[in-house]
Amino acid sequence: MTSAVSIFAPPSLADIDPQDFLRAVNLLQKRSGIVLGAHKRDMAERVLGMRAKAMDIATVNEYLQYLDRNPGAAEWQAFVNAFTINHTAFFREAHHFDILGRFVAARQRPITVWSAACSTGEEPYSIAIQLRESLTNPDQQVSVHATDIDSHAIEVAHAGIYTLDRVKPVPAELLRQYFQRGTGLRAGMARVKAEVRNMVSYQTVNLVSSDWPSDTKYDAIFCRNVLIYFDKATQARVLEGFSRVLKPGGLLFAGHSENLTYLTDSFRLLGQTVYELTPQ
Ligand SMILES: C[S@@+](CC[C@H](N)C(=O)[O-])C[C@H]1O[C@@H](n2cnc3c(N)ncnc32)[C@H](O)[C@@H]1O
Repeated sequence: MTSAVSIFAPPSLADIDPQDFLRAVNLLQKRSGIVLGAHKRDMAERVLGMRAKAMDIATVNEYLQYLDRNPGAAEWQAFVNAFTINHTAFFREAHHFDILGRFVAARQRPITVWSAACSTGEEPYSIAIQLRESLTNPDQQVSVHATDIDSHAIEVAHAGIYTLDRVKPVPAELLRQYFQRGTGLRAGMARVKAEVRNMVSYQTVNLVSSDWPSDTKYDAIFCRNVLIYFDKATQARVLEGFSRVLKPGGLLFAGHSENLTYLTDSFRLLGQTVYELTPQ
């Protein structure tokens, strides 16, 4: 006898075909480099169900088929956005900003920094503030190019508006100087001031594709806490790319758990997960 409950209950996550999960894992990795672990299955199934519904597609299987058959579809961006992990913070790994400060103070030429997986903007704005604070010559040109694969994160970053809770790691003096507290409808929020926002340009860039910013050579690259989502071959490929766009004497900042030494001969460790190009 069939129970009423089994007829009316929503389909359980376990009912979703494991093949669909595998297909989604493959599609995501091929497009973004992100390797989705088996522990993300429940999350993946929820996300895929929501995306299928948003697209008015009856099943997850058909949704994945649609992506597979339409490599240029706009839906790809929403699919990737749904799987990125945007965890970040202002002045995360504070020692990196001290090192960047000393690096800038010792140079009298224009400085361009690439924040290569900038998430919602906390990292590039921290870099921009550090650059301003470290200039010894106010006429020195400094700028930050901030990119991420996640178009939604880029929108948030571009707005530069954060809750007061999120700006807590910003030292009080810098908070006063470079942020504007919201009033009225914006109470409880703080916005990065225009003088800092204007130093940062934003762009959606996929590190595992060929759509990298062209022509620019960087004095420093921040690529923190993103390589961990890629497999080793992809990590090595991205690092080779960085070695081509970093100026001689430039610095590469990696995340606290990212050891690049075993992945590439192009960079050597200076200390505290900061690398420089290996001299030829
Ligand atoms: C954990 S956040 C790190 C943010 C910041 N770098 C930090 O350390 O605080 C990882 C970011 O990497 C981005 N990401 C993942 N795959 C990417 C890819 N293939 N190309 C560019 N960005 C990617 C995600 O969208 C996410 O915003």
